[in-house]
Amino acid sequence: MKEQLAAAEAAVAELLQKRQDRWYPKFHIAPIAGWLNDPNGLCYFQGEYQVYFQHHPYSSVWGPMHWGHVASVDLVNWARRPIALAPSVEEDRDGAFSGSAVVTDSGETLRIYYTGHRWRNGVGEEEGSLQVQMVATSDDGISFRDKKLLIDSPEGLLHFRDPKVWKMDDTWYMVFGASSLENRGQVWLYTSSDMENWTFDRILFEDPDPNVFMLECPDLFPLGDKWVLQYGPMGTRPSGYGSRNVYGTGYVVGKWEPGEDFVQLTDYKMSDWGHNYYAPQTLETPDGRRVAFGWMGDFLIPLASQKEDAWSGQLTVPRRLTLGSSMDLVSQPIAELSQLRTDTVGLGAFTVDVNETVVLGEDLGGVEIEAEFDLASTTSDRVGFLVHKTEDGAHTFLGYDDLSGTVFIDRRLTGNGDRGVRAVPYRGDTLKLRIFIDRGSVEVFVNDGEATLSSLSFPNGGPRTVELSSEGGTIAVTSLKLHSLRSIWMAPDK
Ligand code: FRU
Repeated sequence: MKEQLAAAEAAVAELLQKRQDRWYPKFHIAPIAGWLNDPNGLCYFQGEYQVYFQHHPYSSVWGPMHWGHVASVDLVNWARRPIALAPSVEEDRDGAFSGSAVVTDSGETLRIYYTGHRWRNGVGEEEGSLQVQMVATSDDGISFRDKKLLIDSPEGLLHFRDPKVWKMDDTWYMVFGASSLENRGQVWLYTSSDMENWTFDRILFEDPDPNVFMLECPDLFPLGDKWVLQYGPMGTRPSGYGSRNVYGTGYVVGKWEPGEDFVQLTDYKMSDWGHNYYAPQTLETPDGRRVAFGWMGDFLIPLASQKEDAWSGQLTVPRRLTLGSSMDLVSQPIAELSQLRTDTVGLGAFTVDVNETVVLGEDLGGVEIEAEFDLASTTSDRVGFLVHKTEDGAHTFLGYDDLSGTVFIDRRLTGNGDRGVRAVPYRGDTLKLRIFIDRGSVEVFVNDGEATLSSLSFPNGGPRTVELSSEGGTIAVTSLKLHSLRSIWMAPDK
């Protein structure tokens, strides 16, 4: 693979020279240049968190997939690592697709399980892709050897990818997504005692929605005494505020024991309600927390940074997942992220007057807002934050809408890129919002992670402000803090 990796590194170094940083994230993982999609191979190995990702180092659009790589000792400060995987054998000729990583029992080697992809007609997607599950091995998490085919593609299946591997007792388990011959979205389960020889166990899950033909990037993980199955269903139709993205993520919660069927206990629920949250993967930290990274990007709708900026796609901030009382996923930024704060302005309690706009600060450098509202005493139609607001009036609007009873992100007046509104139903006497504003994105955590909204937001040029505005009434702010955030990168890229 050496040759292919050297060529990829040379290509990405050249792209880096063209990279523009007006929207390049300050505190989110993004490729040094080129394209990024799914987080892959999340794990803790040799004292570091390893984050790999789907990467096209030759341009800012999707292409033959490589695995990019970054690492961190604390999930806060990150270092770039060389590209880890490149297409180099017949089975992954056209791409090393998504997958996961596990550490062997000795603790000394890392195994990456991924999908090898080949266009059936040798050139493009017209006749579909041949997908097989592969393994590669590493002693340092940096360079990989011994690519090997583990599970061949069954005759006629057009989608068969994204292995997620874990160990329980003495057995290794692997789930991945598949499209059945009847075109139904399924999760298949395999087991192994030696990490090499894998046996089909069962079809663990079939999406009850007959429109869904494939479940991408399934991740099955325990939270308390339940199991969460999170995946990207392909083929869903919008339903109210739900499933509005072509690439959206959700989950079901159930019971599962090795050797048994998965017993689904909840309906399908949304993992995130924003415009851009896909293909999340989780890892377990050494102290037992379940932490997820998702991809903020899009396959179909061009991203503003793809045009001239020589990069595209970023991961979300790391989020700790727990299960709420009604079996809802609760998703909060990991506590370590407070280390990114360099400066805090606390505004305490105040009232935003009728039709008043309060300028909270500049968001050019990356900002986190922690705000609490007394909605029972708020008479404004909306609790509205204008973020990424530029002198020409362009901005992304987000907050609480009392008419519809939702928390929303509205990109209709955003400077660049895709538009539209996304929202999650919400009613209550109080409301907490935690908002992360980076140079090209916003992430909103509602009431300590009961719901999240993640959306790309590409502002216009010039200074960017954050404002809080009322409409036709007053806003009762219980407290509001603005934290400036520093960069996650340990060394400058250029
Ligand atoms: C999901 C996905 C995966 C696939 C990868 C290819 O975003 O389509 O199913 O492995 O991206 O880049």
